[in-house]
Amino acid sequence: MNDGSFSLSHRRLLLIISGGIAAYKSLDLIRRLRERGAQVRCVLTSGGAQFITPLSVAALSGEPPLTQLFSAENEQQFGHIRLSREADLIVVAPASANMIAKMAHGLADNLASAVLLAATDKPVMIAPAMNGRMWEHPATQANMATLASRGIMKIGPARGALACGEEGAGRMSEVDAILSAIESFFAQNAPLQGHRALVTSGPTFEPMDPVRFIGNRSSGKQGHAIAAALAAAGADVTLVTGPTALPEPLGVRVIPIETAKEMLAACKSALPCDIVVCAAAVADWRPKTQSTFKIKKNGGHAAPPLTMTENPDILATLSQKGKSRPKLVIGFAAETDAVIDNAKAKFARKGCDWILANQVGGGKGFGAEENSVTLLRREAKGTISAQAWPTLSKTAIAQKLVEEIVKKKG
Ligand code: PMT
Repeated sequence: MNDGSFSLSHRRLLLIISGGIAAYKSLDLIRRLRERGAQVRCVLTSGGAQFITPLSVAALSGEPPLTQLFSAENEQQFGHIRLSREADLIVVAPASANMIAKMAHGLADNLASAVLLAATDKPVMIAPAMNGRMWEHPATQANMATLASRGIMKIGPARGALACGEEGAGRMSEVDAILSAIESFFAQNAPLQGHRALVTSGPTFEPMDPVRFIGNRSSGKQGHAIAAALAAAGADVTLVTGPTALPEPLGVRVIPIETAKEMLAACKSALPCDIVVCAAAVADWRPKTQSTFKIKKNGGHAAPPLTMTENPDILATLSQKGKSRPKLVIGFAAETDAVIDNAKAKFARKGCDWILANQVGGGKGFGAEENSVTLLRREAKGTISAQAWPTLSKTAIAQKLVEEIVKKKG
């Protein structure tokens, strides 16, 4: 964005629209959020659908709103648990008195309330909208106190003329106010905003001929998770990745490559940046020559000789001293044996700032869901500190690494 507004480019919002005349403002909210790059998925309650149509929500959000708790189609695509899990922030606007009461009491009798009940570890923001007397009723106030005690954020309501013709508190806050509350929430939770990050992920494929290549078993899960976690922390992320079966992480610029030489060129094109994480399993060697034709078996003769030549070392290249060197360069050391000793030797050779000594082989590391790493860091006076992490999911490893990066930034 170049109008000075806060970019929400990799943010996933779940907007719950409950019943109230203020639902018309939610349409503008969707438009403004998308203008800022946010992905907005909507849940429209039956009450909300009395005021705005699913079609108008679909037209503005880019996908049909979800409406039913028990729907075979929705459950398969976005079950209510997944809906809350995949959101960075849930916004309920308008939040009717009924919806607030359901949230306070843990009801789950429609899709919206079920999503909210499942959102135990997600930030939730509500924009109450109702008649002034309903807002002031002790029941609503007690419900609001309960929600506040659970950390639910509130915007408004504003005072003024209400749809029922009365004056008082109960108007849903204006879209500008809701938008700026959402932006400040993300600004506070985006410690890497303004930082550029480069991540390598996946294997490289080094061709022998037009159909054969030398590759490895890297799935890209670890590198992609790191790219996603950096983006979620507000960094502007470029992911240079070898061939994987994974979807592109949201809000990340992806450069697909096949060979180590292509990976190096793509990484150089992403400079300058502040943070580099090399999680790719780059082939150390490639076939010295590539046949332009499929190499023939040639009935009974010896296998063709395979002469290899060394590939460029991307991590070592990016770690080289110089004006444009990224402030923090992090590598992995995938080791099957003597993990820490081998990783320390690699650390010295590569010249990066941190290295994650990674136990691989025997089903560990490559392709697995979990990873076991020890973070080695170069400290002042040239000493190396080692912090062993428990075996964690690759997403949790990515999250923990980003926390360490944020701490280092100070
Ligand atoms: O992709 P997954 O299935 O999720 O598996 C994750 C992983 C095991 C691949 C990942 O956690 C990991 O350990 N990545 C590094 C894999 C590797 O081959 O490491 P290495 O020890 O050979 O290389 C050391 C470091 O130098 C790595 O940061 C590597 O990206 C980098 N390197 C290596 C060779 C080369 N020519 N250029 C490089 O940049």
